[in-house]
Amino acid sequence: MTLFEARDVSKKFAGIMALDNVSIDVNDGEIVGLVGPNGAGKTTFFNCLLGLLKPDGGTITFDGAELSRVPTHRRARIGIGRTFQRIELFSGMSVREHLLVAERARRGDGRLWKDVIGMGRPRPDELARVDAMLELLGLTAEADRPVEMLSLGRARVVELARALMIEPKLLLLDEPSSGLDHAETAEIAEKLREVNRERGTAILIVEHDMPMVRSLVSRVFVLDFGRLIASGSVDEVFDDDAVRKAYIGDNN
Ligand SMILES: Nc1ncnc2c1ncn2[C@@H]1O[C@H](COP(=O)(O)OP(=O)(O)OP(=O)(O)O)[C@@H](O)[C@H]1O
Ligand SMILES: [Mg+2]
Repeated sequence: MTLFEARDVSKKFAGIMALDNVSIDVNDGEIVGLVGPNGAGKTTFFNCLLGLLKPDGGTITFDGAELSRVPTHRRARIGIGRTFQRIELFSGMSVREHLLVAERARRGDGRLWKDVIGMGRPRPDELARVDAMLELLGLTAEADRPVEMLSLGRARVVELARALMIEPKLLLLDEPSSGLDHAETAEIAEKLREVNRERGTAILIVEHDMPMVRSLVSRVFVLDFGRLIASGSVDEVFDDDAVRKAYIGDNN
C-alpha cells in the first residue's frame, strides 16, 4: 500500500546540494509531514515530484508508475494534486469559477479557462461536483464572491478546494498555514482531516507550524541542508537531538 516512494533523490544547484539522497514514502490515505528549516530543500523536493525540476539522481514512483516517464502535465491526471507556497488565484474570478475551471481540467475538456468563464453555462453534473466540494470545505456562502474579496485564510481554503477537484490520490501542500492566524490555521487543519477522512486522500505537507504538524500527521520526515536527518513518528522525531539542533534559531 505504498502510494508514493522517492528513493535517493538528489538535486544540485550551482554548488548547493539542495537534495542529497533523500528517500521519502507515503502510504495510501496517510498524512505525512515534511519539515525542516528554511532552505532545507522542501520545495525543491516537491518540484522534483511534480516534474518542475529534474532530479540529478534517484527514482520516484507514484501509484506503481516511475515518474520520470510521466510528463509534468500528466502528473495531475494520474493523481498528484498540489497547492502553492504563495497564493495563486485569479482576481476577477469567483470561488465557484475557480472550481469549475479545475473540474474542466480534470475531465480534459479542451476549452480554455477563459472560454469557460465567458460561456458561463456549466453543465448540471459539473455544477453538482463543484457544489459538493464547496459544501465539503464550507465555502458555499462565498461561492459567488470574487476571490480578491476573501481573507488570506479563506483564499487558502479555495486553493485547497481547487486542488481537490482533480480528485488527487496524493495532495502536496507547501506551507498551507503561511500568513494565517491561529484560528485560520486550525480551520485549515480541520478541513484537511475531513478531506482525508471522507475522501481517503493521502497528504504530504510541508509546514513550519509544529502544533499543526503534530495535530495532523502520522509520520514526519526532517530535512536539513538537503539531507534527511530524521524520520518516524512525531514524538520520536522531535525528541531527536539532531532535529532539535537543526531547529535552534528557527522560530519554531
Ligand atoms: N532554482 C534555484 N536555483 C538555485 N538555487 C535554488 C533554486 N531553488 C532553490 N535553491 C536553493 O536550494 C536550497 C533549498 O531551497 P528550497 O526552496 O527547496 O528550501 P525550502 O526547504 O523550501 O525552504 P523554505 O522553508 O524557506 O521554503 C536553498 O539553498 C535554495 O537557495
Ligand atoms: Mg519552500
